[in-house]
Amino acid sequence: MPIPERLNPTFASAQSPALLHSGALEEARRRLIVALDAPSADAATRIVDSLTGVCQWFKVGMELFTAEGPAVLEPMLKRGYQIFLDLKFHDIPNTVAAAVRSAAALGVGMLNVHAAGGPAMLAAARAALDGLADPPELLAVTMLTSMDAGQMNAIGLERSAAEQVILLARMSLAAGIRGFVCSSLEVAALRELTGPEGVLVVPGIRPAGAESLDQRRIATPAEALRQGASYLVVGRPITQALDPAEAADAILQEMAEAL
Ligand code: C5P
Repeated sequence: MPIPERLNPTFASAQSPALLHSGALEEARRRLIVALDAPSADAATRIVDSLTGVCQWFKVGMELFTAEGPAVLEPMLKRGYQIFLDLKFHDIPNTVAAAVRSAAALGVGMLNVHAAGGPAMLAAARAALDGLADPPELLAVTMLTSMDAGQMNAIGLERSAAEQVILLARMSLAAGIRGFVCSSLEVAALRELTGPEGVLVVPGIRPAGAESLDQRRIATPAEALRQGASYLVVGRPITQALDPAEAADAILQEMAEAL
């Protein structure tokens, strides 16, 4: 499947050193996804409004989508924003394929499934997008970052988290999925595995000097980009800042310098 233009960022290694600074800033803007972890449409709208002209992508997850339904996406899409619908589908292949089709029909730019759903589920999810004129990028979630060794043992997984991530990533690639949500600890290994075609979306980003909050595997924006991230997902460092636009601008600046 050819990579749609909007999902085909140029990776750091391929950047011309002569890239104009404003060009780097625009490139950074195309690669920043703001996590809209809000309980209601009103709260989400306040965040979106505070970032007018600053950001292009918002991530809508289970909390907001469950509270407000697909209608919550419409005003954002009408204003030209791109949406990453972070619902992490995981069910039998037929059900996941149907959910992927429903999500694609909403007009989102990215959506995700759990790689642990297995090869048949991944292939069905991937096939559900066949034939669409402008399909969303399908991302696989390998291991949740909340799964430490104890949690993995409890569900019968004996590999290390790093080995499990690679196993699930290989399986996803074999099913035709080249996009992944991954932590900054895994991004370099996944970039090696996928090559430049991979679309690697990395949460757990904290600007230098910021509090980690509850995130364990964190990286600065510059570190994550240098290790091969295509997109960075940033939530609270922007959405809970006194001035979200100023916080986002500082992150974009740091990203631009790393590009
Ligand atoms: O506020 P913060 O920047 O930590 O938000 C990160 C976002 O990325 C949240 O929406 C969180 O659910 C999501 N996420 C994550 N770690 C993962 C997968 C998703 O933090 N492994």
